[in-house]
Amino acid sequence: MQWDDSSLVRAATGRQTDGPVPVWFMRQAGRSLPEYRAVREGTTMLESCRRPELVAEITLQPVRRHGVDAAIFFSDIMVPLAAAGIDLDIVPGTGPVIAEPIRDLAAVRALPELDPGALGFVTEAVGALTEQLGSVPLIGFAGAPFTLASYLVEGGPSRDHARTKALMAAEPRVWAELCEKLARMSATFLATQAAAGAAAVQLFDSWVGSLAPADYREHVAPHSAAILAQIGREHPGVPRIHFGVGTGELLSDMAAAGADVIGVDWRVPLAEAARRTGGGYAVQGNLDPALLGAPWPVLAERVRRVIRSGAHAPGHIFNLGHGVPPQTDPAVLTRIVELVHAESAQLRAA
Ligand code: CP3
Repeated sequence: MQWDDSSLVRAATGRQTDGPVPVWFMRQAGRSLPEYRAVREGTTMLESCRRPELVAEITLQPVRRHGVDAAIFFSDIMVPLAAAGIDLDIVPGTGPVIAEPIRDLAAVRALPELDPGALGFVTEAVGALTEQLGSVPLIGFAGAPFTLASYLVEGGPSRDHARTKALMAAEPRVWAELCEKLARMSATFLATQAAAGAAAVQLFDSWVGSLAPADYREHVAPHSAAILAQIGREHPGVPRIHFGVGTGELLSDMAAAGADVIGVDWRVPLAEAARRTGGGYAVQGNLDPALLGAPWPVLAERVRRVIRSGAHAPGHIFNLGHGVPPQTDPAVLTRIVELVHAESAQLRAA
């Protein structure tokens, strides 16, 4: 494929180049960009995700503006659930809200399956994007079962995921059936993107860091592993990135679930993440997004520190430790890309 020799795919597959470290940002397409707010004006989030031309335009905006080394598909982890017919909304400033929270076996059994035919708008958008991106890789993504289940069980965003964890502990069979269904939906969403031309995929388990390792291993890892294994089987050339926030204690289990690249937040240095995962995985991360507002010399030193730490892993993809905050000055992101491109080869070699 035209992106097989890109710095991102090489770093993800154990073939890091001697050249610049690849860089992209989680949530690079979105509210930090005035051109995003302009094209989104008057269109809801879910409706925007269903319009291939709009999706392509929003996905390309940060590539044009910042010169990042990858695009991330503009969509949302809730899109496959909405496409399956689950009644939900994405509320600005709040996040996903579910009309009828799922809290018992009857509700789980009543959940629809996702017909791949309902994702035609995804195939169309990814196809248009891979054509326009040329050798710049497109990253596809999906939500992992725990993070999706947390929205369905809580009914919306939550701080402590209390109902979710209580269901997992008290009703393990109901929980497993829910996660199996969600895993099938996410796998269909990811496989659709990979089949249409995504060069890599990222499984977002954003909120799984709230779990103890024993619960992760017993109640979550098998379901995420099923998704990653399906992609590995059907799209062996497409590297898999596995990411969550606050996952310092889970990194080795998340790697073992079937990732090629382990996404790390800002709490664990990349060299330590490489050590915890046994040294065999590429790492992605992990500048603290809170520092994007710091004076440039301070921020630049932190960027350099991340690059030096990443050199201890077999591959490094520079990113933030979580998404770009909406209030970020986009010029700062452009400047980080320039710094990573200008200095990373030298910093890694030192
Ligand atoms: O640039 C990109 O990263 C690509 C697009 C993307 C979005 N959501 C667009 C979006 C991606 C990769 C996601 C994934 C996503 N969605 C995750 C995992 C990533 C993470 O942040 O941990 C999660 C947990 C969600 C659920 C979700 N959807 C949240 C928490 C929110 C934000 C709510 C808010 O407004 O603060 C959304 C809505 C959402 N997804 C927006 C965007 C651009 C904002 C919608 C808007 O502008 O109206």
